[in-house]
Amino acid sequence: SHYKIAVFVGSLRKESINRQLAHALEKLAGDRASFEYIKIDDIPLYNQDHDKQFPAQGTRMKGQVRAADAVLFVTPEYNRSIPGVLKNAIDTASRPYGDNAFAGKPAAVIGSSIGAIGSALAQQHLRNVLVFVNLAVMAQPEAFVHYKEGLIEADGTISNEGTRKFLQDYMDAFLDWIQVHHKG
Ligand code: FNR
Repeated sequence: SHYKIAVFVGSLRKESINRQLAHALEKLAGDRASFEYIKIDDIPLYNQDHDKQFPAQGTRMKGQVRAADAVLFVTPEYNRSIPGVLKNAIDTASRPYGDNAFAGKPAAVIGSSIGAIGSALAQQHLRNVLVFVNLAVMAQPEAFVHYKEGLIEADGTISNEGTRKFLQDYMDAFLDWIQVHHKG
């Protein structure tokens, strides 16, 4: 089957290695999935006072999440946690109370860093949040991608064979996870 995956990239910068990683995973999924990149750079800072007149950008994002079969988070590590822009988007999509767009969807976490531990601490913090918003988060395999110059080519090809195979297995496992957990 073919799945629609809502993709949150936790970095806003153009040359983001995490955005490149997301494109590489999209390529590894082939025709089994389509990635919809969720725009998070215009989501207002979450303010519970605005729940009753919910910001239009938040409503748009929640619609995109609801229309997807699954959610993929590709995040950098900022100061040993997740970037504020990503947390802001997650908080927004989970609200108002009782109208959480994530509820029950299958999800996965991955990330890349130029640092040796490859975003591991950010990913672990993120899992804590995602479990609370009731996403069915894939536990294994984990993937901490240690980025080195040239790892991901412009067309999304992973140049290192070992890393390519590892990420293919990761993507295959996520697609299996979606098959088991998605609600149609
Ligand atoms: C970083 N970086 C970083 N790396 C890491 O491994 N652990 C960390 O805690 C941090 N902290 C951190 C804080 C801030 C504010 C910035 C801007 C950067 C480095 C980070 O991994 C690197 O900049 C990546 O390239 C960011 O990901 P994108 O934007 O390339 O996807």
